[in-house]
Amino acid sequence: MSNEPRDEDAGEAIVYLNGRFLPVSEACIPVTDRGFLFGDGVYEVIPAYGGRLLRLPHHLQRLQNSLDGIRLHNPLSSDRWRAILEELLQRNRALAGPDNDQSVYLQVTRGSAAKRDHRFPEEVVPTVYATSTPLPAPDPAIAEHGIRAVSLDDIRWRYCDIKAVTLLPNVLLRQQATERDAAEAILIRDGLAIEGSASNLFIVRDGIIETPPKGPQMLPGITRDLVLELAARHGLAARESDIPEALLRTAAEIWITSSTREIVPVTELDGKAVGDGRPGPLWKKMSALYRDYKDAVRRGAAE
Ligand code: PDD
Repeated sequence: MSNEPRDEDAGEAIVYLNGRFLPVSEACIPVTDRGFLFGDGVYEVIPAYGGRLLRLPHHLQRLQNSLDGIRLHNPLSSDRWRAILEELLQRNRALAGPDNDQSVYLQVTRGSAAKRDHRFPEEVVPTVYATSTPLPAPDPAIAEHGIRAVSLDDIRWRYCDIKAVTLLPNVLLRQQATERDAAEAILIRDGLAIEGSASNLFIVRDGIIETPPKGPQMLPGITRDLVLELAARHGLAARESDIPEALLRTAAEIWITSSTREIVPVTELDGKAVGDGRPGPLWKKMSALYRDYKDAVRRGAAE
């Protein structure tokens, strides 16, 4: 054993892998893991503010739905998940920013079998992996200017409500957006705007906040649900409604939401200004409500 500084002392992230906490550089999985060979697994991304997980029960319920969707037994109880993720946050606290905000990533794959075979292996021992990384505060330049987005044809499969690690279409779409100098791709399927490559979609039309209804075509975002909840609680008009491409193009405001990006105003779509080309008034209201909610989570007054 070397006596070099390690783990938390060395500033190296600690991860959880199959029952153990260990430095990321020591965490290995076999090359036969089905997550690696087939993308046969699911994941979650959960923000934590001041060391407290935002909406953990909602994320664990979505994880359960994803596992059911790929017919994989949940290897851990909700209490065990909570204990592991809280310990991970605690151990990586030194790496987090001054507010101790972190983003937790967890992944469950169908595990590893000796022979590469598409069929489920007889005895399945899932691989369980989790990590936490610093979650930077939203970039003030985004609140000032918003982001550019492009619309792209939704090339993904038919079970987008499963949060599968099989993200190749999302990767290709996001890269296409990047190469067009845009920060997100808004995906269009059968004439409807569905969601972003890694975010949900909102528009504002006639003073009403609108987002597409849930279904297999999109991921049921935890941030999305929280935005709808905050709107209801604070008397902002909001509804779930299909967004035809034409309405997307004439929206007064467009936002995208996700656990890591929070609520982001889109101020340019396909090279054209959205509204007056600046973050809109309803985005400002909602983003303040979201900030207050995060503060409540930090104080332990909300989850
Ligand atoms: N992605 N839609 C897609 C396709 C996503 O990948 C995500 C999140 C969302 C927003 O969901 P939530 O509000 O629960 O984060 C919608 C995560 C952040 C990711 O893949 O890193």
